[in-house]
Amino acid sequence: MTNNEVPKSGFAEAGADLELAGISKRFPGFTAIEELDLTIPAGSFFALLGPSGCGKTTTLRLIAGLEEPTAGRILIGGKDVTATKAYQRPVNTVFQSYALFPHMTILQNVAFGLKRRGIQNADALAHEALQLVELDHVAGRKPTQLSGGQQQRVALARAVVNRPALLLLDEPLGALDLKLRRQMQVELKDIQSEVGLTFLHVTHDQEEAMTMADTVAVMNKGRIEQMGAPQDLYELPHTAFVAKFLGQSNLFTGDVISSSSTSMVVDAAGSKIEVPVSRAQRTSGRVTVGVRPEKVTLHHTEPKPQSGRSVIGPGRITDVSFSGVSTQYEVTVPHLGAITVFAQNTSISTLHHDGDTVWLSWAVDHAFGLADEAETEPVSRFHADLDTSMIAVQSRKDLEAELEEA
Ligand SMILES: Nc1ncnc2c1ncn2[C@@H]1O[C@H](COP(=O)(O)OP(=O)(O)O)[C@@H](O)[C@H]1O
Ligand SMILES: [Mg+2]
Repeated sequence: MTNNEVPKSGFAEAGADLELAGISKRFPGFTAIEELDLTIPAGSFFALLGPSGCGKTTTLRLIAGLEEPTAGRILIGGKDVTATKAYQRPVNTVFQSYALFPHMTILQNVAFGLKRRGIQNADALAHEALQLVELDHVAGRKPTQLSGGQQQRVALARAVVNRPALLLLDEPLGALDLKLRRQMQVELKDIQSEVGLTFLHVTHDQEEAMTMADTVAVMNKGRIEQMGAPQDLYELPHTAFVAKFLGQSNLFTGDVISSSSTSMVVDAAGSKIEVPVSRAQRTSGRVTVGVRPEKVTLHHTEPKPQSGRSVIGPGRITDVSFSGVSTQYEVTVPHLGAITVFAQNTSISTLHHDGDTVWLSWAVDHAFGLADEAETEPVSRFHADLDTSMIAVQSRKDLEAELEEA
């Protein structure tokens, strides 16, 4: 679809596939993106999740055509757009700063892009987009008369009204407070299912990525470490970075001391931890294995050895933090360090106390084996920058300049 073929009404048309093939982006001095391969099927809600500086905005800028890749190709709907100008790509971006025109009404803001392209029923389409974000009743107001969350919805309506095959969202909820952000996450997800466009949502908030997206790609230092459905990534992380960035993990490093066709046993400082071979990325030598804190059970006496469970201990509870729904325990086990346990507060008798001696156990099927070793502290190669808001302000200035000329 070119920019001039905006259908008369309705938002039900499907989005397009996005394919990045062997993309890299080098800036003088360092590489921001390394060998990125990514396919996002049409109509999906895809999240690119990673810490600040890992290359998320750069990836979006490459897709939008605001930046040229050093190597690789970009295909939208099967068409190679690597050499296509930004304004000719069927892509729209919603930035963290909304960049609405302050002197225009909400309706004028949303209809602006359509009118500029000479589309006849611009106002009707703008009203339709505003209905979608439930803001048609404020169509006559100015942006300053709306709350932050409402302004962000206007920014979304303004992008969606162009019916881009692909909508890029760069930390669009980052400026909102937590409660509003959670509410907008649900709304954004509803809107995406309603319009059926392909959404590529960039965020450093793991909860946001997991609750919203069908597929999450975890990015670290310019590379995708792992990609999949949120639950799959959570239950079976492949690398130490994913295990720690997406939720919390207890990680143990040791040598594989025995293995069968179905499971292997790792000796971590004298504690024997069993991991199913099907859940292990490596099955010999020195490996890091892990278990999520909510999978671990605490015991006041040493549990009898039981097939299908790993037991470690004794250890001592060194911290208890009660949060109502659950209690988080830190258990220090000699030579292994601190292990985190989340226990649901289902009965008063399950409470353990600071200083208690405890054993820990979990089902072997919940353990996972990583492809790499846990670093002591992940060192970030990059530092954060404010690229995104800069782009938003720049694109608004460009449009304003254009307006004045007209
Ligand atoms: N135009 C540029 N010139 C040089 N370095 C850049 C440029 N744009 C981004 N970078 C750098 O590339 C890295 C990745 O940036 P970015 O994609 O903005 O990260 P994220 O959006 O994940 O926080 C950062 O270290 C950033 O400083
Ligand atoms: Mg960014």
